[in-house]
Amino acid sequence: MRMHLDFTGRHVFVFGGTTGINFGIAQAFARCGAHVSVASRTRENVDAALAALQSQGAQACGVCADVRDFEAVGAAFAEAVQRFGPIDALVSGAAGNFLCPANAMSANGFRSVVDIDLIGSFNVLRQAYAHLRKPGASLINITAPQSMVAMRSQAHAAAAKAGVDQLTRVLALEWGADGIRVNAISPGPIDGTEGFRRLIARTPEELAQAQRDVPMGRFGTIDDIANLALFLASPHASYLSGAVIPCDGGGALDSVKPALERAALQP
Ligand code: HXC
Ligand code: NAP
Repeated sequence: MRMHLDFTGRHVFVFGGTTGINFGIAQAFARCGAHVSVASRTRENVDAALAALQSQGAQACGVCADVRDFEAVGAAFAEAVQRFGPIDALVSGAAGNFLCPANAMSANGFRSVVDIDLIGSFNVLRQAYAHLRKPGASLINITAPQSMVAMRSQAHAAAAKAGVDQLTRVLALEWGADGIRVNAISPGPIDGTEGFRRLIARTPEELAQAQRDVPMGRFGTIDDIANLALFLASPHASYLSGAVIPCDGGGALDSVKPALERAALQP
């Protein structure tokens, strides 16, 4: 089920927006009439996303930029704003992840994920500030449940996304007076995505167990997350700022119990 709000002529920029959840968010805004800009590292991904957005009839702009490169992020915003004007809504969702226990992880492995997820988020939000339509702009960070719930083999992502949550809250404080709202979405396991493939989908038994672990008994869809992003960017959310919102079928609430239950079942 898709939500339809009117963003006709609004400029929505999605960083890390060329694949997966973030690309689904970009497509949802395009369906609602927005002018959509997407950016990521890989030319191939940028070209494919741009072609797909244009084929659905959207006014779209695609830019190559690595969130770890502060100057390149600024140049990406300048190019998009030249095309579509000041940014009404920004989604910051570039991220990297892999499963690795802390005692097997290299310092560079830890640093890479913190650089992309946390430092990259700062670079995106900091460079966006000058290009936002104020008052009224909506900033949406994409975080993850491991920011609040400890998970094995996730030291890098858990530390980085916890930082993203606090960045969300601090910027909501600092930029509220400019009429900028800053919120974060924390998706649960979203079927058909790279994150799901890397972290959740292994054996059929593990997959079935992971599904049972979600209180609502199903994995999320990209539309579940995109609908929340549409709401957060809309006037319906005009007094909502500084919130980190789980969209996970209740999963974060119940994350410890299933693990304990499984452990208790071990002979
Ligand atoms: C251990 C690993 C590793 C692995 C990489 N490294 N993969 N260590 N296990 N599987 C180490 C490398 O050995 C290297 O350290 C360091 O990490 C950097 O690796 P590079 O490949 O040089 O880095 P880079 O090209 O910058 O790529 C970054 C990346 C990559 C994060 C490692 O996987 C990536 O680009 N990912 C983007 C796509 C992605 O991950 N999407 C899923 C997001 S899902 P050394 O010491 O050898 O130099 C998500 C949350 C999901 O964020 C939540 C679900 C509930
Ligand atoms: P994905 O398809 O791999 O999306 C990540 C995007 O970020 C890609 O478009 C990638 O494109 C871009 N990116 C990665 N590194 C970048 C960099 N250094 N600079 C610029 N762009 C970069 O993964 P996904 O699973 O849909 O995840 C999307 C978001 O949701 C992430 O923030 C993730 O943490 C969060 N999340 C996902 C899940 C899930 O179940 N999938 C659950 C919780 C949270 P390039 O490779 O072209 O750069």
